[in-house]
Amino acid sequence: MRYPEHVIEEIREQSDIVSIISEYTALNKKGSSYVGLCPFHNEKTPSFSVSEDKQLYYCFGCGAGGNVITFLMQKENMSFFEVIKYLAEREHIKLDETYLSEEEIQNNKKRSQLLDILKESARYFHYSLRAPENEEALQYLTNRGLTMETIKHFGLGYASHHFNDLYQYLRQKGYSDQILLESGLFLQGKQNGNMIYDRFAGRIIYPIFDLSKKVIAFGGRVLDGSMPKYLNSPENILFNKSRNLYGMQLAKNSGASYFILVEGYMDVIAMHQAGFNQTVASLGTAFTPGHAKLLKRHTKEVVILYDSDGAGQKAALRAIPILRSEGLKVKVLLLQEGKDPDEYLKTHGYDAMHQLLEDAPSDMWFQIRTIEKKYDLTLPEEKVKFLQEIASVLAETSSSIEQAIYLKEISKTYDIDEEAFKAEMNRHYQTGIRKKALRENEVSPRQKKQVFNNEVIFLANLYHYPNLARHVQAYLKPEFFDEGLLYDLAKAILDALQSGKEIDMTYFTTHYPEVEEQNIISHVLIYKDQRYEDVALLQKMMTENVKRLNKQYIERRLKVTQDVNEVQNLLFQKKELDKLNIDYING
Ligand code: GTP
Ligand code: MN
Repeated sequence: MRYPEHVIEEIREQSDIVSIISEYTALNKKGSSYVGLCPFHNEKTPSFSVSEDKQLYYCFGCGAGGNVITFLMQKENMSFFEVIKYLAEREHIKLDETYLSEEEIQNNKKRSQLLDILKESARYFHYSLRAPENEEALQYLTNRGLTMETIKHFGLGYASHHFNDLYQYLRQKGYSDQILLESGLFLQGKQNGNMIYDRFAGRIIYPIFDLSKKVIAFGGRVLDGSMPKYLNSPENILFNKSRNLYGMQLAKNSGASYFILVEGYMDVIAMHQAGFNQTVASLGTAFTPGHAKLLKRHTKEVVILYDSDGAGQKAALRAIPILRSEGLKVKVLLLQEGKDPDEYLKTHGYDAMHQLLEDAPSDMWFQIRTIEKKYDLTLPEEKVKFLQEIASVLAETSSSIEQAIYLKEISKTYDIDEEAFKAEMNRHYQTGIRKKALRENEVSPRQKKQVFNNEVIFLANLYHYPNLARHVQAYLKPEFFDEGLLYDLAKAILDALQSGKEIDMTYFTTHYPEVEEQNIISHVLIYKDQRYEDVALLQKMMTENVKRLNKQYIERRLKVTQDVNEVQNLLFQKKELDKLNIDYING
């Protein structure tokens, strides 16, 4: 973090926490703060609170808390720096390079050098595709039905089968071995004087673009049946597989009412060529929450269009909950006849595909059909088991409105008595509700409820119960608390008690940028523990903490001080401490 405080503070001040968090969860004004469902854990009743004055959020359910910067760090998986840049752009605040540290300047330089290398390479590959000696490569693509226009549109290319053509080309442009190796385009052998050669030699090249249409990586496919069929660039500072979707740079401008998720490069390209510009693919990796978040920014509905084989079906079942948990509406289309979208389009064309997409079953129906395949429904006892299983899926994963709709549809489809099925589902629904409630109380399986230590809880009570805190402040010193954040918080709270002024949030934003630190700050300044409304309990808590912290402090000092007077003084204080009885009425 090398931007000066006033820059970070300007950015934080301009970036209103309420409006930014509103993009993730609906907030309603309640008293001096805003409340809503927590975006960090599953819950049905709102326990998430945002304070506009303090520009902090805090969840009373799971303990997640912080400021607008840490919120985005956690929700968007960005670094502190990425958030600062993102917010600065959003608020049209210009960030000056002179604020950057040497390391950051070097990183920026490297990034832009890598982008240049990839751009040069993409051009080189694209050009090679049209060289007469590589006719075979171009033929391969046209044989697969791609037009020249499509080839250009996706910037497809060919890496010459000579082992280091690209390397020679880029060396001659002046790039060092070191940066070339970092580009992911090359491999270094252990023999022959550590020879460097082209990773993608002999492959068809699919450039991978970021949202601003810069090339950030490549995929490469063999022309024949050899293995591995595809190679991808390794991840580096430009390329993160689980945050990029192939085709997104085009799909984001499609204006389509739903996006289509396919499995492969060729599927994306064929779909676009046919006119489905809203098609994207995760790149040879399983679908991740990062992908779902990216989609969520551009659409409300996703149709999963995977291969109809077992692997495709499994992958679809895994992607459904990931998409759903981002609040996306999901449909699933598995093509029959063991085909992928590319092949299907070739034989059936746009209209047939369009119709299938429009008629694609919901994720729920897809799950029902998948379960159906496990049973022989002509046998009564299997049919019962089948219905029990879908009743439990329905009870588990859908809203009551959805349930009512499916109840009707399922009864009709499988010719069963709606009332009987409803009873079965309600039986599961009751256990489902119990299970769900249990899960919600546990907060979320991934995010454990935050545990704060005694000092933090004590500071929160000092801040939220100033009337009692006034009686103990004379017995407290910031030095009793851990150096750093807790010391500063204690000092700020004690100062505020004395002066009656609010705490200066600027200081805490800029000095304590880490997620964990902001979490503690928001806990202390927002979380008012209702249990301490019981005055006797609060008094006891405060007295005990004053004694404990003071004693610990005295012991720490005794270990380090050489000053005889101080030692005497400390020993005296220690004795006095045992007798201490804070008077909360007159004191
Ligand atoms: P074609 O065979 O050219 O039609 O490609 P495809 O896109 O249909 O490939 P396929 O359905 O076999 O695989 C889907 C996606 O998985 C591909 O587009 C690649 O991203 C990825 N993939 C497939 N095979 C490999 C492999 O051998 N290695 C890696 N890293 N990824 C692969
Ligand atoms: Mn294919």
